[in-house]
Amino acid sequence: MSVVKPNIRTYANASALVESAARLIAERIMQHVEERGNCRLALAGGTTPRPVYQRLAQADLARTIDWVHVHFFWGDERCVRPDDDASNYRMAYSELLSRVPVIESNVHRIEGERGSIAAARRYVEILGNQPLDLLLLGMGADGHTASLFPDTPDLATSERVIPTLSPVAPVDRVSISLREINEAREVHLLVSGADKAERLAEVLQQIEAGRLTLPAARVQPRSGLIFWLTDAAAAQQLAMPNH
Ligand code: 6PG
Repeated sequence: MSVVKPNIRTYANASALVESAARLIAERIMQHVEERGNCRLALAGGTTPRPVYQRLAQADLARTIDWVHVHFFWGDERCVRPDDDASNYRMAYSELLSRVPVIESNVHRIEGERGSIAAARRYVEILGNQPLDLLLLGMGADGHTASLFPDTPDLATSERVIPTLSPVAPVDRVSISLREINEAREVHLLVSGADKAERLAEVLQQIEAGRLTLPAARVQPRSGLIFWLTDAAAAQQLAMPNH
């Protein structure tokens, strides 16, 4: 695998990261809509994207997006009901989808309530054969991304969507695989907070050295289009002068 040179953008603090990430995402959604008529956008869970979704829903940005042409997917989901507090769908719905004019049939959630095996199988059908256009991901302090955790056989799967187990509750998860991630036309990895600093430095060292073990380091889209969007707290241990 050829290694993609990371394009790192570091912002002064979490709110500057949110503002810039939301603006970039809005711009890139519309670029994909212009290029192909619609944008297959995959959302992440976790605390980092929540304020980004809130920002995207605010009128000045929301009105720059042709929501009817946006198809919503998810990179991962917890095996809970869609109205559960832990549901990634629920978070995205309450912060974004319920606040902008999306077409209901364009919302393609992972049906976690079916259980991880059935939900993963079903999601392959839901995804169809097209690659994701814009994939949003986060990174955990252990270097996981989506629901792909370090040192698991999940990292080597040739499936597109898999059942996985998280070290923290809710344990049962469904995740798109590295194969599917790396087929995406464009990836934005959002990393915020000092608790991620050490791991982010390690991930970027692995990329620099071409020795990719941590899940986040193995996000290497074939398109070469990846943005690492970080705040200064998360980037504090980065050695690179140009970050
Ligand atoms: C999830 C995620 C997961 C998340 C990271 C970072 O469902 O939990 O998709 O991969 O992005 O754990 O989460 P935070 O932004 O909360 O640190």
